[in-house]
Amino acid sequence: MKKDYSEYFKGPSLKDARKRFKEDVHHIDDAYEIPADMAGIGKGKTYFIKTYGCQANERDTEVMSGILETLGYTHDDDLEHADIVLLNTCAVRDNAEEKVFGRIGMLKKIKRENPGMIFGVCGCMAQEEVVVNRIKRKMPQVDLIFGTHNIHRLPQLLKAALLEKETVVEVWSKEGDVIENLPSHRAKDKKAWVNIMYGCNKFCTYCIVPYTRGKERSRLMEDVLREVNDLKDHGYLEVNLLGQNVNSYGKDLDADYDFATLLEEVAKTGIERIRFMTSNPNDFSEGMLRVINEYDNIMPYIHLPLQSGSTAVLKRMNRGYTREEYIELFDKLKELVPNAAVTTDIIVGFPNETEEEFEETLSMFDHCQYDLAYTFIYSPREGTPAATMEDHVTRKEKEDRLQRLNEKVNYYAHKANEKYLGTVQKVLVDGPSRKDPNVLAGYTETNKVVNFKGDPAHIGQIVPVKITEIRTWSLDGEEVE
Ligand code: SAH
Ligand code: SF4
Ligand code: F3S
Repeated sequence: MKKDYSEYFKGPSLKDARKRFKEDVHHIDDAYEIPADMAGIGKGKTYFIKTYGCQANERDTEVMSGILETLGYTHDDDLEHADIVLLNTCAVRDNAEEKVFGRIGMLKKIKRENPGMIFGVCGCMAQEEVVVNRIKRKMPQVDLIFGTHNIHRLPQLLKAALLEKETVVEVWSKEGDVIENLPSHRAKDKKAWVNIMYGCNKFCTYCIVPYTRGKERSRLMEDVLREVNDLKDHGYLEVNLLGQNVNSYGKDLDADYDFATLLEEVAKTGIERIRFMTSNPNDFSEGMLRVINEYDNIMPYIHLPLQSGSTAVLKRMNRGYTREEYIELFDKLKELVPNAAVTTDIIVGFPNETEEEFEETLSMFDHCQYDLAYTFIYSPREGTPAATMEDHVTRKEKEDRLQRLNEKVNYYAHKANEKYLGTVQKVLVDGPSRKDPNVLAGYTETNKVVNFKGDPAHIGQIVPVKITEIRTWSLDGEEVE
């Protein structure tokens, strides 16, 4: 069933994006259309897309690449001479946004020399009215702005941008339906991102994502399984099931399955490696732990964002769990899946975080001994509740805390790697390492990067690698028979 989209808002509004409507989300198979006069419009022309955000954004880039290729465009790394340049942006922290504004500035000069270029800004920043207004007012080099819910309309939007002199803006603040069957050009040929759900309903008080990505909408299990089976048939070895909070999978559907069911069904397809992210500790079920333990092709690697080790801060963040509940879950996880590597995300300097509260985060590391942690200084996001909280912690103090935290992170990351020394690990070989083309790089089952001496003919395969040296962020090794 096709939907009449005219009822949707045309411009971004974070206030509207906050609303969660009860109405049903439809799963639509035929929303994607190429206007007759756009067919083949890109023949002989090139496109370039720069991705700034998370895995959800990377997956969106693959879909946009697929759409542009069905119009005839081909990918080219040469941004300066490309016919279409899209910046797929991220709004999660201020520094991500500043990078984008820097790039938009650079493109002013490039567009002067290549006036035929269509320059578009999309992704999460496009969902923020402050950003769209700033671009419209001051950055006429931008031809097109479109949001995260408007991607399938790229052919229509491109057509408008080719005809219009003014910046074309189409951002729906309210999420649309779940759109299936979009073209896509995947970045890799052995590892694939697979969306299982879109959006987020958690509303952590610091976070912009529920506003930029809309309410939680799960894909139907049959559609996810079809995609995984298709990837497997095409030689893919690894799928990474994506959602802002995969543990909520299925809750919005009128169906009798949840994430544990989906995980089990994906495991039964027999694809070599299954990963998933992100799991909110809040609704991690025992059923999930059972399934993870039962199937060898579900990788023993779990990203379990803590954000803060202090119950008081967690409450101000609206995370929905206490320090003790997190520890209980963590311990159960380690008990049921003892070989699992666990990583986390931490925000330091949340408004009015006290020294004692920060030390509670540090002490969580002594308990959990994470394999790795991604650490951030809190960045106020306009429109979120935390942005209106008064904050007495100085920037300098926040930076000091980040540094102290990173010392802990590195200490335990190195410690976690020590047990790998001398072992043989199964490594999915990605390709030559970034630093040295004579060295191969790949990932263990526990998601550790390994740089190793091996046979380049084995790129794209899973091979045994003996670990000969450990570092804080990676392992070194050599391929064995
Ligand atoms: N859905 C995921 C997180 C997505 S955002 C989850 O809930 O785990 C990725 C990470 O960015 C978050 O885990 C958090 O640590 C960080 N982050 C989000 N908003 C932030 C902000 N306003 N300032 C600093 N870091 C933030
Ligand atoms: Fe943001 Fe929280 Fe949703 Fe993660 S769960 S995307 S941190 S609101
Ligand atoms: Fe950034 Fe949007 Fe992902 S804000 S983290 S790109 S969902």
